[in-house]
Amino acid sequence: MRELSLHILDIAQNSIKAEAECLRIAVIEDLVADKLTIKIKDDGVGMDSETVRKVIDPFYTTRTTRKVGLGIPLFKLSAEQCEGLFEIKSQLGKGTEIIAVFKYSHIDRVPLGNMPETIVTIINASEKMDLIYTHRYRDATFTLNTKEIKKLLDGVPITTIDVITWLRDYIAEGLQEIMDAK
Ligand SMILES: Nc1ncnc2c1ncn2[C@@H]1O[C@H](COP(=O)(O)OP(=O)(O)O)[C@@H](O)[C@H]1O
Ligand SMILES: [Mg+2]
Repeated sequence: MRELSLHILDIAQNSIKAEAECLRIAVIEDLVADKLTIKIKDDGVGMDSETVRKVIDPFYTTRTTRKVGLGIPLFKLSAEQCEGLFEIKSQLGKGTEIIAVFKYSHIDRVPLGNMPETIVTIINASEKMDLIYTHRYRDATFTLNTKEIKKLLDGVPITTIDVITWLRDYIAEGLQEIMDAK
């Protein structure tokens, strides 16, 4: 994929399908270690170890409409092409965690892409799921927790267009701040 955020969106869609109540997305840009780490963790239905093994195989999917589930194998390939690592931890009934590590400066490492848009798309796709997004750039961290935002909204749906617009700007400003931090 041309942007890592597209992988994040794809993996998050799996978590929504897995009926997660809470999704955690962490992006860690460690320029000193020359590593970009993406962690996506849900508390959905999870997978048994056999399913995990199959899911890494590009010819596996539980969906019947499409024979080939490529979301996970493609993300794995992206990381491995960048001298990175890929790991899935999953437990039936508990949830799933996917960790992808990229060599930050690797020539084939595609840009992260539009994170504000990606995050609001995920929020829009599942109003009832909570999302905790943390993004670290060098030593500065931005955090968004929809649970806290929903409390402030006091009954107004988080998917209301004005709220989504506000969230998109809020995330963009937050990311700009951590990138400008000295
Ligand atoms: N977070 C998750 N929780 C539970 N099952 C998952 C999760 N992610 C993936 N799976 C299982 O792995 C399969 C393959 O996922 P993926 O590679 O994204 O392809 P697709 O979503 O097109 O099926 C899914 O169909 C699902 O059965
Ligand atoms: Mg998928």
